[in-house]
Amino acid sequence: MTVDRQEKSASARAPGIVLPGPVLIVGCGKMGGALLRGWLGRGVSARQIAAVDPAFATGVAGFEDIAAASVALLGAPDQLPPDFRPALVLLAVKPQFMDAALPGYRRLVSPDTVFLSIAAGKSLAYFHSVLGDQARIVRSMPNTPAAIGKGMTVIYRDPAISAEQLALCGELLAAVGTIAWIDREDLLDAVTAVSGGGPAYVFLLIECLARAGCAAGLPEDLAAELARLTVCGAGALAEQSQEDVVQLRQNVTSPKGTTLEALKVLMAPDGLQDLMTRAVAAAARRSRELSR
Ligand SMILES: NC(=O)c1ccc[n+]([C@@H]2O[C@H](COP(=O)([O-])OP(=O)(O)OC[C@H]3O[C@@H](n4cnc5c(N)ncnc54)[C@H](OP(=O)(O)O)[C@@H]3O)[C@@H](O)[C@H]2O)c1
Repeated sequence: MTVDRQEKSASARAPGIVLPGPVLIVGCGKMGGALLRGWLGRGVSARQIAAVDPAFATGVAGFEDIAAASVALLGAPDQLPPDFRPALVLLAVKPQFMDAALPGYRRLVSPDTVFLSIAAGKSLAYFHSVLGDQARIVRSMPNTPAAIGKGMTVIYRDPAISAEQLALCGELLAAVGTIAWIDREDLLDAVTAVSGGGPAYVFLLIECLARAGCAAGLPEDLAAELARLTVCGAGALAEQSQEDVVQLRQNVTSPKGTTLEALKVLMAPDGLQDLMTRAVAAAARRSRELSR
């Protein structure tokens, strides 16, 4: 396996994205919306973006600024112009809605159009079975910190896709954070389980730490704030420090001190590592099930 970390941080990137043609977003929810805002923030012309989501059939609530910026927000694919030829179609509907959504975009299949999926567990074989063998499809897995430009997205570098189309996918996903490339599609199940769902595990850690603080006698509000800001601060330190996370952990752990007592519990054989390994394995298993 090769993982080629390409983009380190939003601030390290070039200022603007120049598209070779229009981009279509299919599904403008949490992830599709975050990418849309990230692209506009990186200087992509609103007139080059269209988005289809059933919600737009009845209004653009929450997207008023986007509509005002002249992004075409449509309720169904039949509202796209007949001669619409996008350079990229972002597939951002939930996996369980993909069967219903995808056939509406078959007519866009062309060598000049790359379909970029961010859906969990939907394999290239699945997309080809619906869109046909000629469709150019790239799979990727982002996560929700993309909403604030801090996403972690892994992209499968399919040798069947042109370097230009892979580069376009990479550039658009790098607009919302860091990207990494993998050379095996099957690794996306584990990626989904680690970084795709990972933010949820961290939020649960905050909840658990807050409840443990309450149990240790803190008022609920204070415990919640201490837990949230501790995780934020530790995350920022892990991001910015030259030291690795093991060293950062050891820096907090004095011999015979209080943290050591907590870590004895967390690092016991049936402690956090065991739980996390089982949790990630369960998520990866579910990702494999979704791809069947
Ligand atoms: N959220 C995450 O943490 C995360 C992380 C990595 C990858 N992903 C992937 O990203 C994709 C989107 O997830 P999400 O969390 O952004 O979901 P979401 O917030 O539910 O957004 C999906 C959007 O697609 C819309 N939609 C449903 N059917 C459609 C159709 N036929 N055509 C166009 N749009 C349609 C939904 O409308 P309704 O609400 O009316 O159904 C919703 O607005 C999923 O495939 C997921 O696996 C999500």
